[in-house]
Amino acid sequence: MKNILITGGAGFIGSQFVKLMLEKYDYNIINLDLLTYAGNLENLKDIEDKKNYTFIKGDICDKVLVNEIFKKYEIDTVVNFAAESHVDRSIENPEIFLITNILGTQNLLENAKKYWKLTPEDKYSREYKDGVKYLQVSTDEVYGALGEEGMFTETTPLNPNSPYSSSKASADMLVRAYYETFGMPMNITRCSNNYGPYQFPEKLIPLMINNCENDKPLPVYGDGMQIRDWLHVKDHCIAIDTVLHKGAIGEVYNIGGNNEKANIDIVKLIISTIGKSENLIKYVKDRPGHDRRYAIDNTKITTQLGWSPSYTFEQGIAETIQWYLNNKNWLEKITSGDYMKYYEKMYK
Ligand code: NAD
Ligand code: TYD
Repeated sequence: MKNILITGGAGFIGSQFVKLMLEKYDYNIINLDLLTYAGNLENLKDIEDKKNYTFIKGDICDKVLVNEIFKKYEIDTVVNFAAESHVDRSIENPEIFLITNILGTQNLLENAKKYWKLTPEDKYSREYKDGVKYLQVSTDEVYGALGEEGMFTETTPLNPNSPYSSSKASADMLVRAYYETFGMPMNITRCSNNYGPYQFPEKLIPLMINNCENDKPLPVYGDGMQIRDWLHVKDHCIAIDTVLHKGAIGEVYNIGGNNEKANIDIVKLIISTIGKSENLIKYVKDRPGHDRRYAIDNTKITTQLGWSPSYTFEQGIAETIQWYLNNKNWLEKITSGDYMKYYEKMYK
């Protein structure tokens, strides 16, 4: 029996991961989430009554709270999803990204280090099945941008371009430092762009579906030829589960499904699936520092750990569009109030 602290478990990816863990294992799951604009307990309705599941509303930066959680629940595993995650917001207000993504990560690491009584020698001796692990959910954006050629491997130097990606890169550096200096048994995963149900509609795919359905303009940044490597959120969660259980201590694993698409092609696909006109497309000012292309080389996780994606993009995107159309209540609730203020400011 394991006692897993999942942080950010009310967000898009974290909530899918909480559900996967509860479906697959008898572990105790403790979900620590601050419920910022991006956290939504509706995402967890199906499992909230499970006896091996506990939700705690709180901040990963809160030293006293995180210390209490380690002690009370005898935490042996941390999977850290909690983060400020939207690039455009990081351009508007970088500070909160540094606080949550960097200091929050350091607070989790420090508490894990103390509670697990780590020594530097642990680095060479620990195996997850008998012990403890800290898993940092990172992003391919820490590697910066690619030109037309090449892919990110785990040894590509970190070269982040936005306040968001630089805060995530800083967190990765700290995780690495806690491994090297204190023997923290850790893994870092770096995944490409996710899509699927329950994604907050500030991100490209749900924003375009929502606007398209409501006949609102579809704001495409710059020339729309930026490329992202899309992966279904469930495949990401299965990959994290694989790394958690099979990943060699101290290793970084890239996660991606070899599925590069230009933004404009995604937007056109959404328009044609919903049956609207391409006249809705509106080219708007480009994002400052906009990364041109991301592409993940997934050789390490596929060959060493045996993970591979189960969704094709065609199947996943069709199901995702249908999910948003069938769950308009979910969208309506979160696109009122504060979100509309943000939207009007961003896209005015
Ligand atoms: P999200 O914004 O949907 O969810 C983040 C969650 O963290 C929310 O529930 C929020 O309430 C919570 N949170 C924020 N600040 C907190 C704090 N101080 N203390 C506790 N909880 C806090 O993000 P997401 O898309 O689910 O991403 C989850 C993780 O995966 C992030 O670390 C992100 O960097 C990483 N990631 C995301 C993608 C993607 O495409 N979405 C791709 C690769 C990696
Ligand atoms: P996003 O979903 O914000 O993810 P990220 O920036 O982390 O990759 O954006 C995906 C791509 O879509 C990115 O190249 C920016 C672009 N984009 C638009 O063209 N218009 C929009 O309104 C948004 C939100 C994104």
